[in-house]
Amino acid sequence: MNQRVAIIGAGPCGLAQLRAFQSAQAAGADIPELVCFEKQADWGGMWNYTWRTGLDEHGEPVHGSMYRYLWSNGPKECLEFADYSFDEHFGRPMGSYPPREVLWDYIKGRVEKAGVRPYIRFDTAVRNVSFDADSQLFTVTAHDHLNDRTYSETFDFVVVASGHFSTPNVPSFPGFERFAGRVLHAHDFRDALEFKGKDVLIVGASYSAEDIGSQCYKYGARSITSCYRSAPMGYKWPANWEERPLLTHVQGSTAFFADGSSKHIDAIILCTGYKHHFPFLPESLRLKTGNRLWPLNLYKGVFWEPNPKLIYLGMQDQWYSFNMFDAQAWYARDVILGRIALPDAEHMRTENLAWRQEEETLETAQEMFEFQGEYIRQLIAATDYPSFDIAEVNATFLQWKEDKYESIMGYRDKCYRSLITGTLATPHHTPWLEALDDSLTAYLADAPTDCLKSAS
Ligand SMILES: Cc1cc2nc3c(=O)[nH]c(=O)nc-3n(C[C@H](O)[C@H](O)[C@H](O)COP(=O)(O)OP(=O)(O)OC[C@H]3O[C@@H](n4cnc5c(N)ncnc54)[C@H](O)[C@@H]3O)c2cc1C
Ligand SMILES: NC(=O)c1ccc[n+]([C@@H]2O[C@H](COP(=O)([O-])OP(=O)(O)OC[C@H]3O[C@@H](n4cnc5c(N)ncnc54)[C@H](OP(=O)(O)O)[C@@H]3O)[C@@H](O)[C@H]2O)c1
Repeated sequence: MNQRVAIIGAGPCGLAQLRAFQSAQAAGADIPELVCFEKQADWGGMWNYTWRTGLDEHGEPVHGSMYRYLWSNGPKECLEFADYSFDEHFGRPMGSYPPREVLWDYIKGRVEKAGVRPYIRFDTAVRNVSFDADSQLFTVTAHDHLNDRTYSETFDFVVVASGHFSTPNVPSFPGFERFAGRVLHAHDFRDALEFKGKDVLIVGASYSAEDIGSQCYKYGARSITSCYRSAPMGYKWPANWEERPLLTHVQGSTAFFADGSSKHIDAIILCTGYKHHFPFLPESLRLKTGNRLWPLNLYKGVFWEPNPKLIYLGMQDQWYSFNMFDAQAWYARDVILGRIALPDAEHMRTENLAWRQEEETLETAQEMFEFQGEYIRQLIAATDYPSFDIAEVNATFLQWKEDKYESIMGYRDKCYRSLITGTLATPHHTPWLEALDDSLTAYLADAPTDCLKSAS
């Protein structure tokens, strides 16, 4: 096959695409030439932690939004790769909510085994993509930072796997200019210890707000106040955490809220989400969407309808993550390989709008993850990606939601059964709230590292 496929990004989505092609090749298929462009020096995308904020060593916007001490916020059993289980990677059962480094290790294990690293050009940022209707080819222009060289190459397909949690959405509130403390967005949050002993204000009411507030609590903030625009998170918070309606303004070190109340604060963390941002794409190819379950103009959630040779992976709001990226990557692979034919434009549009209409009727969390689960089920049914019981994953999500309402600081101590191998997770040696060392070594140790240290 003399076609060429460009993959932009070597995070979980880009790696899923590489693994999908490699698995077809291992089964005897002739695959296209693959080139994966990755602007960072290593793979894993968001899971490849960086201490940097602002610009990276090459002057590129820092991609990473993850922070120290981040643990999975959903059970690992809900994201397990169906072709590479946790059992296979770690060779032993473990907790259901591993820390970042453990999940990064797992992500890397599959692609190391697949041997796809040579396809990736690291330290290489994609600057521009254009499409020529006559030749039906894309031109991808990239900057190789190691050799400080900008070059262009042509491709038959382009897979955009650049993520959508890296460009912060940063609202401003009156008084920020003169606020006495630090104002930062979650994208730039790195270490909760910075806020030890402080009165922290969190703006936002979604996952970043919940988790960054929890980090600050765990590592010793004096108080946490979180404020919401639409609705409170509503968990049973510890005594020094309260939820208030949205911030209206700040005066000196005092924050004022929509209910007329006020409170002293030392620092403000804007957990106000991210923007889908594709500075390398022209208007005609650029997806424009908020963080939602069914972005428009993507047939099967991946093919850019005006030009389905452009493929977007992982652009949805994510209940499901790694296994959804796999489902999408396997489907995209089979379209590229000619195993699945795309319907005409009208069919794509009609099907897409039907999904969107359904998405707009969803109200509860359960309806939302069931919607996404059904989408994934349909994708998987069309390819050779190993099938797994989506209904069971949904049941695990449902239990997870209940666990969080029962104990927001304790839900990460619960254990679930793998839907791939049937293995039941084992409790981590230390309750999450007391586990201050989140390293892979500490996590996989049989006893807390503190105990190990004092024993030696
Ligand atoms: C703080 C935080 C915590 C999260 N926690 C969880 C969790 O616990 N569980 C979970 O399932 N998900 C979590 N997520 C969601 C996470 O984004 C996904 O798990 C996953 O990383 C998405 O994979 P991706 O490949 O789409 O994007 P990313 O992981 O963001 O990877 C995109 C890659 O593209 C590269 N790239 C971007 N632009 C260019 C360019 N122009 N040229 C070349 N390369 C480029 C980047 O360097 C990066 O390596 C979290 C997200 C955030 C922000
Ligand atoms: N592993 C972990 O523990 C962890 C930690 C953090 C993040 N994550 C992941 O990161 C991803 C992003 O999560 P996220 O919470 O950053 O983004 P998000 O889910 O998109 O939520 C954005 C939040 O910001 C609020 N918001 C937006 N603009 C605002 C404004 N102008 N004023 C006030 N509030 C505003 C939104 O309020 P409305 O509801 O009113 O729109 C919403 O509460 C998710 O996939 C999540 O799972 C995981």
